[in-house]
Amino acid sequence: MSAISVRKAVLADLRAILKIEQANASAAHWNPSEYERLFEDSGIQRLALVAEGANAIEGFVIAREVATEWELENIAVAPDGQGQGIGAGLLQALVDRVREAGGTKLMLEVRESNLAARRLYERAGLEVCGRRKRYYQQPPEDALLFEKKLT
Ligand SMILES: CC(C)(COP(=O)(O)OP(=O)(O)OC[C@H]1O[C@@H](n2cnc3c(N)ncnc32)[C@H](O)[C@@H]1OP(=O)(O)O)[C@@H](O)C(=O)NCCC(=O)NCCS
Repeated sequence: MSAISVRKAVLADLRAILKIEQANASAAHWNPSEYERLFEDSGIQRLALVAEGANAIEGFVIAREVATEWELENIAVAPDGQGQGIGAGLLQALVDRVREAGGTKLMLEVRESNLAARRLYERAGLEVCGRRKRYYQQPPEDALLFEKKLT
């Protein structure tokens, strides 16, 4: 695979972001209007990054700030690009930017059965810090809570 660079998402990336989200059943699913709001000044501190290859956007990550703590809301890589380090690159770029912004913690929740995502988070140094019983619907499943302290 050719070199991938990670940069801040812009409105023109929206179509590619939606395509990647829709190609991944286990990604968090939002309405297009919720993605559009990423690029509006809504007062909510959000960060959206994309991984860009030679010809296309290969993945994205979205996080939001809650006080100085950041919640990873969604991360997905195009199915053809998975397993090649793109998710790890996106997550590392997110951690770097959150640190630069003075963030003290990165946290997230994930379906217990999502082994690819769990592995990605563990490799990036996030640790399981809790469980929410039957947090997800269709199918019902527990969420595992992960966090990484950044101070
Ligand atoms: C989770 C996801 C973003 C990982 O991205 P990726 O680019 O495939 O991950 P990477 O290639 O950077 O791999 C990171 C680590 O996860 C592991 N991994 C990736 N896919 C895996 C899989 N299907 N099964 C087990 N481990 C997997 C890799 O082996 C690697 O660990 P290693 O360094 O020990 O080998 C990607 O699988 C995806 O888009 N999944 C669908 C969306 C989703 O579930 N998002 C999370 C919930 S919001």
